Amino acid sequence: MARKKIALIGAGNIGGTLAHLAALKGLGDIVLFDVAEGIPQGKALDLSQCGPVEGFDSTITGSNDYADIAGADVIIVTAGVARKPGMSRDDLLGINLKVMKAVGEGIKANAPGAFVICITNPLDAMVWALREFSGLPHHMVVGMAGVLDSSRFSHFLADEFKVSVKDVTSFVLGGHGDTMVPVIQYSTVSGIPVPDLIAMGMSTQEKIDAIVKRTRGGGGEIVALLKTGSAYYAPATSGIAMAEAYLYDQKRVLPAAAYVSGEYGLDDLYVGVPVVMGAGGVEKIVEIKLDDEAKGNLQVSVDAVKELIVACKGIDGSLN
Ligand code: APR
Repeated sequence: MARKKIALIGAGNIGGTLAHLAALKGLGDIVLFDVAEGIPQGKALDLSQCGPVEGFDSTITGSNDYADIAGADVIIVTAGVARKPGMSRDDLLGINLKVMKAVGEGIKANAPGAFVICITNPLDAMVWALREFSGLPHHMVVGMAGVLDSSRFSHFLADEFKVSVKDVTSFVLGGHGDTMVPVIQYSTVSGIPVPDLIAMGMSTQEKIDAIVKRTRGGGGEIVALLKTGSAYYAPATSGIAMAEAYLYDQKRVLPAAAYVSGEYGLDDLYVGVPVVMGAGGVEKIVEIKLDDEAKGNLQVSVDAVKELIVACKGIDGSLN
Protein backbone atom coordinates (compact mmCIF):
# COMPACT_ATOMS: atom_id res chain seq x y z
CA MET A 1 0.00 0.00 0.00
CA ALA A 2 1.30 3.43 -0.89
CA ARG A 3 2.23 5.66 2.00
CA LYS A 4 -0.32 8.20 3.14
CA LYS A 5 0.28 11.81 2.20
CA ILE A 6 0.24 14.58 4.78
CA ALA A 7 0.15 18.18 3.53
CA LEU A 8 1.04 20.95 5.95
CA ILE A 9 -0.09 24.40 4.84
CA GLY A 10 2.13 26.87 6.67
CA ALA A 11 5.74 25.99 7.39
CA GLY A 12 6.24 28.21 10.41
CA ASN A 13 6.74 27.15 14.03
CA ILE A 14 3.73 24.85 14.21
CA GLY A 15 4.10 23.61 10.62
CA GLY A 16 7.75 22.64 11.14
CA THR A 17 6.95 20.89 14.42
CA LEU A 18 4.04 19.04 12.77
CA ALA A 19 6.38 17.84 10.02
CA HIS A 20 8.92 16.63 12.58
CA LEU A 21 6.30 14.73 14.59
CA ALA A 22 4.62 13.26 11.48
CA ALA A 23 7.97 11.97 10.23
CA LEU A 24 9.01 10.55 13.63
CA LYS A 25 5.63 8.80 13.89
CA GLY A 26 5.81 7.53 10.31
CA LEU A 27 2.40 8.94 9.37
CA GLY A 28 3.32 9.16 5.68
CA ASP A 29 5.08 11.31 3.12
CA ILE A 30 4.98 14.98 3.98
CA VAL A 31 4.59 18.12 1.89
CA LEU A 32 5.35 21.41 3.64
CA PHE A 33 3.71 24.30 1.81
CA ASP A 34 4.23 28.01 2.46
CA VAL A 35 4.00 31.28 0.53
CA ALA A 36 7.46 32.25 1.81
CA GLU A 37 10.03 31.04 -0.67
CA GLY A 38 12.86 28.93 0.70
CA ILE A 39 11.36 28.36 4.18
CA PRO A 40 9.45 25.14 3.38
CA GLN A 41 12.32 23.89 1.21
CA GLY A 42 14.91 24.63 3.89
CA LYS A 43 12.85 23.05 6.68
CA ALA A 44 12.08 20.02 4.50
CA LEU A 45 15.78 19.47 3.81
CA ASP A 46 16.70 19.88 7.48
CA LEU A 47 13.92 17.48 8.52
CA SER A 48 14.87 14.95 5.80
CA GLN A 49 18.34 14.87 7.30
CA CYS A 50 16.81 13.55 10.56
CA GLY A 51 15.78 10.42 8.62
CA PRO A 52 19.08 8.52 8.71
CA VAL A 53 19.43 9.14 12.46
CA GLU A 54 15.82 8.36 13.34
CA GLY A 55 15.39 5.65 10.71
CA PHE A 56 12.33 7.05 8.98
CA ASP A 57 11.78 6.72 5.24
CA SER A 58 9.02 9.32 4.81
CA THR A 59 9.84 11.87 2.14
CA ILE A 60 9.58 15.50 3.21
CA THR A 61 9.22 18.04 0.43
CA GLY A 62 9.01 21.82 0.61
CA SER A 63 6.82 23.69 -1.85
CA ASN A 64 5.31 27.03 -2.86
CA ASP A 65 2.96 25.39 -5.36
CA TYR A 66 -0.49 24.13 -4.36
CA ALA A 67 -0.25 21.45 -7.08
CA ASP A 68 2.14 19.59 -4.75
CA ILE A 69 -0.59 18.91 -2.18
CA ALA A 70 -2.58 16.93 -4.77
CA GLY A 71 -4.07 13.74 -3.38
CA ALA A 72 -3.25 14.53 0.26
CA ASP A 73 -5.04 12.31 2.79
CA VAL A 74 -4.69 14.78 5.65
CA ILE A 75 -4.09 18.53 5.48
CA ILE A 76 -3.17 20.54 8.56
CA VAL A 77 -3.48 24.31 8.16
CA THR A 78 -1.35 26.70 10.21
CA ALA A 79 -0.89 29.35 7.52
CA GLY A 80 -1.32 32.89 8.72
CA VAL A 81 -0.02 35.25 11.30
CA ALA A 82 0.55 34.20 14.89
CA ARG A 83 -0.38 36.35 17.86
CA LYS A 84 2.08 38.93 19.12
CA PRO A 85 2.06 40.20 22.74
CA GLY A 86 -0.96 42.40 23.40
CA MET A 87 -2.76 41.10 20.31
CA SER A 88 -5.91 39.05 20.90
CA ARG A 89 -6.76 36.11 18.67
CA ASP A 90 -9.56 38.27 17.30
CA ASP A 91 -7.16 40.96 16.10
CA LEU A 92 -5.88 38.37 13.69
CA LEU A 93 -9.25 38.02 12.01
CA GLY A 94 -8.85 40.27 8.98
CA ILE A 95 -5.33 39.11 8.11
CA ASN A 96 -5.97 35.40 8.51
CA LEU A 97 -9.36 35.46 6.75
CA LYS A 98 -7.58 36.38 3.50
CA VAL A 99 -5.13 33.54 4.10
CA MET A 100 -8.03 31.07 4.62
CA LYS A 101 -9.48 32.13 1.27
CA ALA A 102 -6.25 31.31 -0.57
CA VAL A 103 -5.79 28.06 1.34
CA GLY A 104 -9.43 26.97 0.91
CA GLU A 105 -9.24 27.54 -2.83
CA GLY A 106 -5.94 25.65 -3.02
CA ILE A 107 -7.46 22.67 -1.20
CA LYS A 108 -10.63 22.73 -3.32
CA ALA A 109 -8.60 22.62 -6.54
CA ASN A 110 -6.02 20.04 -5.47
CA ALA A 111 -7.08 17.84 -2.57
CA PRO A 112 -10.87 17.84 -2.15
CA GLY A 113 -10.84 14.34 -0.64
CA ALA A 114 -8.62 15.26 2.32
CA PHE A 115 -9.45 15.41 6.02
CA VAL A 116 -8.60 19.00 6.91
CA ILE A 117 -7.53 20.13 10.38
CA CYS A 118 -7.36 23.90 10.88
CA ILE A 119 -5.15 25.41 13.59
CA THR A 120 -5.00 29.04 12.42
CA ASN A 121 -6.53 31.56 14.84
CA PRO A 122 -9.07 32.89 15.65
CA LEU A 123 -9.82 29.22 15.38
CA ASP A 124 -13.60 28.80 15.35
CA ALA A 125 -14.11 31.57 12.78
CA MET A 126 -11.15 30.50 10.64
CA VAL A 127 -12.23 26.85 10.41
CA TRP A 128 -15.73 28.00 9.47
CA ALA A 129 -14.34 30.28 6.75
CA LEU A 130 -11.90 27.63 5.51
CA ARG A 131 -14.80 25.18 5.10
CA GLU A 132 -16.81 27.80 3.21
CA PHE A 133 -13.93 28.65 0.86
CA SER A 134 -12.96 25.00 0.28
CA GLY A 135 -16.49 23.67 -0.22
CA LEU A 136 -15.50 20.35 1.41
CA PRO A 137 -18.12 18.38 3.38
CA HIS A 138 -18.50 19.74 6.92
CA HIS A 139 -17.52 16.44 8.56
CA MET A 140 -14.16 16.52 6.76
CA VAL A 141 -13.11 19.95 8.05
CA VAL A 142 -12.40 20.38 11.73
CA GLY A 143 -10.60 22.80 14.02
CA MET A 144 -7.91 21.93 16.54
CA ALA A 145 -8.43 23.68 19.85
CA GLY A 146 -10.10 21.40 22.38
CA VAL A 147 -7.34 18.79 22.38
CA LEU A 148 -4.83 21.54 23.18
CA ASP A 149 -7.03 23.33 25.71
CA SER A 150 -7.90 20.11 27.54
CA SER A 151 -4.25 19.04 27.47
CA ARG A 152 -3.35 22.32 29.16
CA PHE A 153 -6.17 21.81 31.68
CA SER A 154 -5.05 18.21 32.34
CA HIS A 155 -1.45 19.30 32.81
CA PHE A 156 -2.46 21.85 35.45
CA LEU A 157 -4.81 19.36 37.16
CA ALA A 158 -2.14 16.63 37.28
CA ASP A 159 0.22 19.16 38.81
CA GLU A 160 -2.36 20.22 41.41
CA PHE A 161 -3.36 16.67 42.39
CA LYS A 162 0.24 15.41 42.13
CA VAL A 163 -0.81 12.45 39.97
CA SER A 164 0.26 11.12 36.59
CA VAL A 165 -1.06 12.99 33.56
CA LYS A 166 -2.02 9.53 32.26
CA ASP A 167 -4.79 9.32 34.85
CA VAL A 168 -6.27 12.75 34.17
CA THR A 169 -8.97 13.35 31.58
CA SER A 170 -10.48 16.76 31.17
CA PHE A 171 -13.01 18.44 28.98
CA VAL A 172 -12.96 21.91 27.51
CA LEU A 173 -15.86 23.06 25.36
CA GLY A 174 -16.84 26.16 23.44
CA GLY A 175 -14.79 28.55 21.38
CA HIS A 176 -10.99 28.66 21.50
CA GLY A 177 -10.62 31.94 23.27
CA ASP A 178 -10.95 33.59 26.62
CA THR A 179 -14.56 32.37 26.80
CA MET A 180 -13.72 28.65 26.48
CA VAL A 181 -15.54 26.40 28.94
CA PRO A 182 -13.45 23.97 30.98
CA VAL A 183 -16.09 21.55 32.37
CA ILE A 184 -15.05 20.33 35.80
CA GLN A 185 -17.80 17.76 36.32
CA TYR A 186 -16.45 15.79 33.32
CA SER A 187 -12.81 16.24 34.31
CA THR A 188 -11.52 13.33 36.33
CA VAL A 189 -8.59 11.56 37.91
CA SER A 190 -9.06 7.88 37.02
CA GLY A 191 -12.81 8.45 36.73
CA ILE A 192 -13.19 10.46 39.95
CA PRO A 193 -14.75 13.82 38.97
CA VAL A 194 -12.94 16.98 40.10
CA PRO A 195 -15.88 18.15 42.30
CA ASP A 196 -15.62 14.82 44.20
CA LEU A 197 -11.87 15.29 44.57
CA ILE A 198 -12.54 18.73 46.08
CA ALA A 199 -15.06 17.15 48.48
CA MET A 200 -12.40 14.58 49.40
CA GLY A 201 -10.10 17.43 50.42
CA MET A 202 -7.60 16.87 47.61
CA SER A 203 -7.92 20.46 46.41
CA THR A 204 -10.09 23.50 46.97
CA GLN A 205 -12.69 25.22 44.79
CA GLU A 206 -10.46 28.34 44.79
CA LYS A 207 -7.48 26.41 43.44
CA ILE A 208 -9.59 24.73 40.74
CA ASP A 209 -11.11 28.11 39.80
CA ALA A 210 -7.58 29.46 39.39
CA ILE A 211 -6.68 26.48 37.17
CA VAL A 212 -9.77 27.08 35.03
CA LYS A 213 -8.74 30.73 34.66
CA ARG A 214 -5.16 29.77 33.79
CA THR A 215 -6.41 27.26 31.19
CA ARG A 216 -8.55 29.94 29.55
CA GLY A 217 -5.53 32.21 29.32
CA GLY A 218 -3.16 29.34 28.48
CA GLY A 219 -2.21 30.61 25.03
CA GLY A 220 -1.74 34.20 26.19
CA GLU A 221 0.53 33.12 29.06
CA ILE A 222 2.92 31.56 26.54
CA VAL A 223 2.70 34.52 24.13
CA ALA A 224 3.67 36.85 26.99
CA LEU A 225 6.69 34.70 27.84
CA LEU A 226 7.90 34.07 24.28
CA LYS A 227 7.41 37.69 23.18
CA THR A 228 8.07 36.77 19.53
CA GLY A 229 5.35 34.25 18.71
CA SER A 230 2.83 31.85 20.15
CA ALA A 231 2.85 28.27 21.44
CA TYR A 232 3.78 25.56 18.97
CA TYR A 233 4.89 22.30 20.56
CA ALA A 234 1.58 21.44 22.24
CA PRO A 235 -0.54 22.78 19.33
CA ALA A 236 1.43 20.57 16.92
CA THR A 237 1.17 17.51 19.18
CA SER A 238 -2.58 18.06 19.43
CA GLY A 239 -2.99 18.39 15.65
CA ILE A 240 -1.09 15.15 15.12
CA ALA A 241 -3.36 13.31 17.60
CA MET A 242 -6.33 14.31 15.44
CA ALA A 243 -4.57 13.25 12.22
CA GLU A 244 -3.85 9.85 13.78
CA ALA A 245 -7.50 9.45 14.86
CA TYR A 246 -8.51 9.86 11.21
CA LEU A 247 -5.68 7.91 9.54
CA TYR A 248 -5.97 4.92 11.90
CA ASP A 249 -9.77 5.06 12.26
CA GLN A 250 -9.34 5.26 16.04
CA LYS A 251 -12.88 6.49 16.79
CA ARG A 252 -11.39 8.71 19.48
CA VAL A 253 -13.66 10.92 21.53
CA LEU A 254 -11.94 14.29 21.29
CA PRO A 255 -13.02 17.87 21.81
CA ALA A 256 -12.78 19.64 18.47
CA ALA A 257 -14.18 22.67 16.69
CA ALA A 258 -16.85 20.89 14.65
CA TYR A 259 -19.79 22.01 12.55
CA VAL A 260 -23.01 21.88 14.54
CA SER A 261 -26.42 21.60 12.94
CA GLY A 262 -28.92 21.21 15.75
CA GLU A 263 -26.64 19.69 18.38
CA TYR A 264 -26.58 21.61 21.67
CA GLY A 265 -29.37 23.73 20.14
CA LEU A 266 -26.79 25.36 17.87
CA ASP A 267 -26.86 25.78 14.13
CA ASP A 268 -24.57 26.59 11.26
CA LEU A 269 -21.33 27.35 13.05
CA TYR A 270 -18.13 25.71 14.23
CA VAL A 271 -17.55 25.46 17.96
CA GLY A 272 -15.71 23.18 20.38
CA VAL A 273 -17.74 20.07 21.18
CA PRO A 274 -16.85 16.43 21.89
CA VAL A 275 -16.82 14.38 18.70
CA VAL A 276 -16.06 10.81 17.61
CA MET A 277 -13.18 11.05 15.15
CA GLY A 278 -12.32 8.21 12.80
CA ALA A 279 -11.96 7.29 9.13
CA GLY A 280 -15.22 9.13 8.42
CA GLY A 281 -13.78 12.38 9.78
CA VAL A 282 -16.16 13.79 12.39
CA GLU A 283 -18.39 10.73 12.68
CA LYS A 284 -20.61 11.95 15.49
CA ILE A 285 -21.07 14.88 17.80
CA VAL A 286 -21.45 13.73 21.39
CA GLU A 287 -24.09 15.72 23.26
CA ILE A 288 -23.16 15.60 26.93
CA LYS A 289 -25.49 16.85 29.65
CA LEU A 290 -24.38 20.21 30.96
CA ASP A 291 -25.39 21.88 34.20
CA ASP A 292 -26.89 25.37 34.05
CA GLU A 293 -23.58 27.10 34.73
CA ALA A 294 -21.77 25.24 31.93
CA LYS A 295 -24.73 25.87 29.59
CA GLY A 296 -24.59 29.59 30.34
CA ASN A 297 -20.82 29.69 29.82
CA LEU A 298 -21.16 27.77 26.55
CA GLN A 299 -23.71 30.31 25.33
CA VAL A 300 -21.32 33.20 26.10
CA SER A 301 -18.62 31.38 24.14
CA VAL A 302 -20.96 30.64 21.23
CA ASP A 303 -22.02 34.30 21.10
CA ALA A 304 -18.35 35.32 20.82
CA VAL A 305 -17.86 32.86 17.92
CA LYS A 306 -21.02 34.13 16.18
CA GLU A 307 -19.74 37.70 16.42
CA LEU A 308 -16.55 36.68 14.65
CA ILE A 309 -18.48 34.94 11.89
CA VAL A 310 -20.56 38.08 11.36
CA ALA A 311 -17.29 40.07 11.21
CA CYS A 312 -15.91 37.62 8.58
CA LYS A 313 -19.05 38.09 6.48
CA GLY A 314 -18.58 41.86 6.79
CA ILE A 315 -15.01 41.62 5.52
CA ASP A 316 -15.64 39.16 2.66
CA GLY A 317 -19.01 39.46 0.94
CA SER A 318 -18.64 36.06 -0.75
CA LEU A 319 -19.23 34.45 2.68
CA ASN A 320 -22.83 35.70 2.87
N1 APR B 1 -0.34 30.58 2.53
C1 APR B 1 0.55 29.74 3.12
N2 APR B 1 1.32 30.08 4.17
C2 APR B 1 1.19 31.32 4.65
C3 APR B 1 0.28 32.26 4.10
C4 APR B 1 -0.50 31.85 2.99
N3 APR B 1 -1.38 32.67 2.41
N4 APR B 1 0.39 33.41 4.82
C5 APR B 1 1.30 33.19 5.78
N5 APR B 1 1.79 31.93 5.68
C6 APR B 1 2.82 31.27 6.48
C7 APR B 1 3.94 32.20 6.93
O1 APR B 1 4.87 32.42 5.87
C8 APR B 1 4.55 31.40 8.08
O2 APR B 1 5.61 30.57 7.65
O3 APR B 1 2.28 30.78 7.68
C9 APR B 1 3.38 30.53 8.56
C10 APR B 1 2.94 30.82 9.98
O4 APR B 1 3.97 30.45 10.81
P1 APR B 1 4.32 31.19 12.20
O5 APR B 1 4.28 32.65 11.99
O6 APR B 1 5.55 30.56 12.74
O7 APR B 1 3.05 30.84 13.11
P2 APR B 1 2.75 29.52 13.97
O8 APR B 1 3.31 29.69 15.34
O9 APR B 1 3.13 28.32 13.19
O10 APR B 1 1.15 29.64 14.11
C11 APR B 1 0.32 29.58 12.98
O11 APR B 1 -1.60 28.85 14.23
O12 APR B 1 -2.02 28.76 16.53
C12 APR B 1 -2.18 29.47 15.35
O13 APR B 1 -2.31 31.70 16.19
C13 APR B 1 -1.53 30.81 15.45
O14 APR B 1 -2.67 31.63 13.53
C14 APR B 1 -1.43 31.16 13.99
C15 APR B 1 -1.13 29.83 13.33
